[in-house]
Amino acid sequence: MAFPVVDADYLKEIDKARRDLRALIAYKNCAPIMLRLAWHDAGTYDKSTKTGGPNGSIRNDEELAHGANSGLKIALSFCEEVKAKRPKITYADLFQLAGVVAVEVTGGPTIDFVPGRKDSKVSPKEGRLPDAKQGSPHLKDVFYRMGLSDKEIVALSGGHTLGRAHPERSGFDGPWTKDPLKFDNSYFVELLKGETEGLLKLPTDNALLDDPAFRPFVELYAKDEDAFFKDYAAAHKRLSELGFTPASSASKATAKDGTVLAQSAVGVVVAAAVVILSYLYEVRKRG
Ligand code: HEM
Repeated sequence: MAFPVVDADYLKEIDKARRDLRALIAYKNCAPIMLRLAWHDAGTYDKSTKTGGPNGSIRNDEELAHGANSGLKIALSFCEEVKAKRPKITYADLFQLAGVVAVEVTGGPTIDFVPGRKDSKVSPKEGRLPDAKQGSPHLKDVFYRMGLSDKEIVALSGGHTLGRAHPERSGFDGPWTKDPLKFDNSYFVELLKGETEGLLKLPTDNALLDDPAFRPFVELYAKDEDAFFKDYAAAHKRLSELGFTPASSASKATAKDGTVLAQSAVGVVVAAAVVILSYLYEVRKRG
């Protein structure tokens, strides 16, 4: 898979798109749906066939029409506004950048973003995203297929600290927390409290309480927001890079090796100069 060249111009465009997204998300109050778009583009990844993942394919009509993506056309059209101004940026990068910015501007952790994803026109078959009506074995099937762990399942589920369900989109209704535009650990606090009038708990949310592999993380994140932010940022980065090997790590490695080589060369030249000068000094002294 060839990656687009991430040159200095592309990085500048990414910076500008980041600013565009901050402004757009603040103006439209659309952080939750932007995060859901990023997650649904990435969450189709299958590590055994290396298909799906954060490759922009959710923009294809066929994939956008999958039941799980109901309502995401709105987020896509917001992203198109940024794409029109920054055509160089791939959709794949743009959607993941939108997810990262959505978390940041609502008070969540800073997530490291590495650009360079390639767009794909190939969409996976319907059915790779989780079904909210099922329990923990299903959650594990879906997330293990992506190559993610139990801890990452729980941390990422904390994304439901933002937004709400809409009956016309998913058949579910209501927000998970009392402040659905603030990214904090209240999703876990509410989950441990049990049913609260006006707040939503999907069967897959409740599964995090019932499964002994998940529950300790729910308890940890409910009492320690820093631990949640740290694990969430790491898990979100992994989700956003499924099937993607950042080209920049290769260039960083080359740069590092080059620097080491250059430093060694300078060292040899300096040492040689010292030897030659000492020799000349001795010769002159004797002379
Ligand atoms: C664990 C399995 C998951 C299931 C079964 C699930 C299911 C759902 C459902 C049914 C909705 C309601 C959609 C609607 O009616 O508008 C929703 C919304 C949402 N999901 Fe998830 N989700 C899961 C994981 C995640 C993850 C990993 C993230 C992000 C890291 C996430 C972020 C969101 C957000 C932000 C919304 C609110 C969207 C809005 O307000 O428009 N979800 N999810």
